[in-house]
Amino acid sequence: MAGFNVAIMGATGAVGQIMLQTVEQRNFPVKSLKLLASARSVGREYAYKGKMYRVEELTEDSFAGVDVVLASAGGSISKKFAPIAAKQGAVVVDNTSAFRMDPEVPLVVPEVNSHALKGHKGIIANPNCSTIQMVVALKPIYDAVGIERIVVSTYQAVSGAGARAIEEFKSQAKAVLEGKDYPPKLFPHYIAFNCIPQIPQSDAFQANGYTSEEMKMVNETRKILEDQNIRVSATCVRVPVVSSHSETVNITTRKKITADEVRKLLAAAPGVCLMDDPKNQKYPLATLAEGRDETFVGRIREDISQEKGIDLWVVSDNLRKGAALNAVQIAEEMVRQGLLMAK
Ligand code: A2P
Repeated sequence: MAGFNVAIMGATGAVGQIMLQTVEQRNFPVKSLKLLASARSVGREYAYKGKMYRVEELTEDSFAGVDVVLASAGGSISKKFAPIAAKQGAVVVDNTSAFRMDPEVPLVVPEVNSHALKGHKGIIANPNCSTIQMVVALKPIYDAVGIERIVVSTYQAVSGAGARAIEEFKSQAKAVLEGKDYPPKLFPHYIAFNCIPQIPQSDAFQANGYTSEEMKMVNETRKILEDQNIRVSATCVRVPVVSSHSETVNITTRKKITADEVRKLLAAAPGVCLMDDPKNQKYPLATLAEGRDETFVGRIREDISQEKGIDLWVVSDNLRKGAALNAVQIAEEMVRQGLLMAK
């Protein structure tokens, strides 16, 4: 295969960097590669397959000849530039929330709803990181016995807030340990040695008391599972962890299912690694999931408070499956389905 002209929009960012690594690691067929970021980063260089590539400034002229754009430069940048790229014939896989709820835009997790890619109009949305790992773990159960309700609490890594947020967390943790002060800048409160029940950092709260991140989990889950009746209540919490989101997920199923049956389903599920041996203290951990592709599931048990309930603990690398890897898998799936054309 000759390959595709690939552009990474936001290539210098926390997700953009992992996109670059993932494209290389998975041997995505690349004919040419463009690294796009703001004027601030022009001239920086990153390696791809042993060759250095210089960052170019993102402009309206950046997309000539480009076949596929992997975008993670923030919602307002995507709102402006994704339609420009699509108009010039590129397919944009967009990691921001700009287009996720647009009825014209497929919202895709390849293990769950790759059929939704057909009929795309040039923009594909990559779901929210917390939603991706949750639906990867729940889809096999949803298909087997149905799910009526989900109650999820997240323990989300700081890397989800970008490269500067990681820096703030590390510098603040170091300063606190040295007895110095490092006041919050990006985060609304101290993130070192703390948990913050607010994501994102600003304009988070909606009229109903939920944050926008929590409502993403509600609305995106419904769209991905194509089930407007599924009830979801989410609490999203930022925790002092660099990589990988953890989640407690409590579900009410339509038909009764045992914990053993869930384990069997998940052991065979695509993209899932079952890690459920609590007697030997084996269960998913953020530190284990970091740098890995799988969604790890453990602590599976029948909910003692309801007849048709299951509890799970779900952990995945938010920058990989939650963002960059899922985006690259979407591009791969489009190649497989003949939906991505090389110019
Ligand atoms: P830059 O590094 O030049 O600011 P993160 O999510 O880690 O904060 O990364 C955001 C990404 O989006 C970075 O690659 C950043 O580039 C890019 N970005 C932010 N603002 C712009 C802009 N106005 N034009 C192009 N890229 C942008």
